[in-house]
Amino acid sequence: MANKLIKVKAPATVANVSCGFDCIGYAISKPGDIVTIEKQDQLGIEISMSGIKYESIPVDPENNTAGKAILSLLNTLESKQGFKVHIEKGIPPGSGLGSSAASTAAAVVGVNELLGKPLKQDELLVHGMAGEAASAGVEHADNVAPALFGGIILIRSYEPLDILHLPVPNNLFSTVVLPDFTVNTREARSILPKHVPLKTAIAQAGNLAGFTLALHNGDFDLLGRSMVDHLAEPHRAKLIPGYDHVHQSAIDTGAIGCGISGSGPSVFALSDSLEKAEKIGLAMVNAFKNSGLTSQSYCSPIHTQPPEILS
Ligand code: HSE
Repeated sequence: MANKLIKVKAPATVANVSCGFDCIGYAISKPGDIVTIEKQDQLGIEISMSGIKYESIPVDPENNTAGKAILSLLNTLESKQGFKVHIEKGIPPGSGLGSSAASTAAAVVGVNELLGKPLKQDELLVHGMAGEAASAGVEHADNVAPALFGGIILIRSYEPLDILHLPVPNNLFSTVVLPDFTVNTREARSILPKHVPLKTAIAQAGNLAGFTLALHNGDFDLLGRSMVDHLAEPHRAKLIPGYDHVHQSAIDTGAIGCGISGSGPSVFALSDSLEKAEKIGLAMVNAFKNSGLTSQSYCSPIHTQPPEILS
């Protein structure tokens, strides 16, 4: 008998990764969201939620990122199948850790499985992006693509969509420190200028090219030099109290590079060992403390797997 119920876990992600505004993201092993989906006889999508700070997330499918992604997928398949969807938030919304993208990625993978896998993993991305638009206002893919495929992803082009998997050096580790307040992605995008000077565009392009070459060559010195953001960070840093100190504490503790994770308030750092990643996490938590903020640190290698089907 065909499956009626599925449980899928998708990972948190770090978007932008300094020099790759809207076009680079990587997945981390923890935290993650778990989405349970059940086919139902009546029409429509019914969403319920639990977990960390779920109360602020709308359950109406048109305004819920996972709901919107499922509707987009069903529309493409011209399917009228109804689903009950339960989202267990392990990733707090408004954290800069790809919270909405994780729910969305797990939801599209789960629904696709329950429908007998009519779409390939690559074909799920556009539906995940439609979901992201429900929370960010635009279809950015730098959280949902790494949540869906794992690894470090480059979105070379949005139109047409061209997704590239960048090499993941074995000894590359991530620290993400989440302070205890939220930043709304839509608002964090609204403070960015619509146009940048040519000089700024050139600086960003140079760093992005350097970043990809550094991953190919495992050259962490070049990676660090390239992890500078000229587009978003100069405008968003003021949204995060003590950001400059947190950034400096990561670099002083041996980070390859450090920046705002997605639209913040999480701050991420890359390093060359798990031990260092943990030390950097402690230093960043301390720096946030000096600005009067409690925070939580997540350290892991880059997560290279697609969403996990738990049952
Ligand atoms: N690239 C997006 C932004 C990521 O910075 O607005 C949001 O998590």
